[in-house]
Amino acid sequence: MTPEHSLILSVAAGPSLVARPILGVVGSVLVRARGLAKTYGEGHAAVRVLDGADLDVDRGDFVAVVGRSGSGKSTLLHLLGGLDRPDAGEIELDGDRVDRLDERGLTDVRRRKVGFVFQAFHLLPELSGIENVLLPAKLARDGLEAAPRAAELIEQLGLSEVAGRLPSALSGGEQQRLAVARALVNDPPLLLADEPTGNLDEESGAAVLDLLRRAADSGRAVVLVTHDRAATALADRVFRLEAGRLVA
Ligand SMILES: Nc1ncnc2c1ncn2[C@@H]1O[C@H](COP(=O)(O)OP(=O)(O)OP(=O)(O)O)[C@@H](O)[C@H]1O
Ligand SMILES: [Mg+2]
Repeated sequence: MTPEHSLILSVAAGPSLVARPILGVVGSVLVRARGLAKTYGEGHAAVRVLDGADLDVDRGDFVAVVGRSGSGKSTLLHLLGGLDRPDAGEIELDGDRVDRLDERGLTDVRRRKVGFVFQAFHLLPELSGIENVLLPAKLARDGLEAAPRAAELIEQLGLSEVAGRLPSALSGGEQQRLAVARALVNDPPLLLADEPTGNLDEESGAAVLDLLRRAADSGRAVVLVTHDRAATALADRVFRLEAGRLVA
């Protein structure tokens, strides 16, 4: 462990930090998606994954999305977070028309507005756990201020002992929890989480769900893709992705 890591981790014992205030009124619309369509492949090989999906998510809202494997749940999250573009339809996020932004605009939205927990984690292999967690804050030029917040998240997720290691020396569940901490470190208004409890035991899963529920209660919007009953039970609303659309 480097001196930076021990410094950062020692802050974890300090008083709990209050989540940062965010602009916007709890209950007001944060995400408005209309008529989303997405097809992969061409000709006979074409697969229409989304076909007129609509979704509204308010600040303070915790929405769960379920659906069979291959139904398009990850695709939907990628579109909402500006990681991929719809073939048709509109996505408004915090007043920005995500579907109309150029690459630069999308990068900016991803950094400022979205925290993403990927199904496959996507930790950077050359960075330690805590460096991965702090990366979004560094990219937002807020690295130093974020250190106590990162330490707090790491502690709450039970990772204090292992956060100084490289991802290759971490279990799947440890990597998954680090990916959750990374998504939360900047307190973005929108959290998109793709099966974030998929690799976790009950206790670790509960810690992740608790952080997401608290993020929603403090005015963030959470869209969670899950097969986990404990997760759908915590959600304010549950949708099923079926034949390319979201149904209640
Ligand atoms: N880049 C791509 N190129 C071609 N097909 C793709 C691509 N990405 C996804 N697909 C296909 O689109 C469909 C939806 O994929 P998606 O990953 O959104 O499903 P999912 O609901 O998240 O499934 P799972 O529960 O297994 O994670 C699948 O049939 C998948 O094979
Ligand atoms: Mg998926």
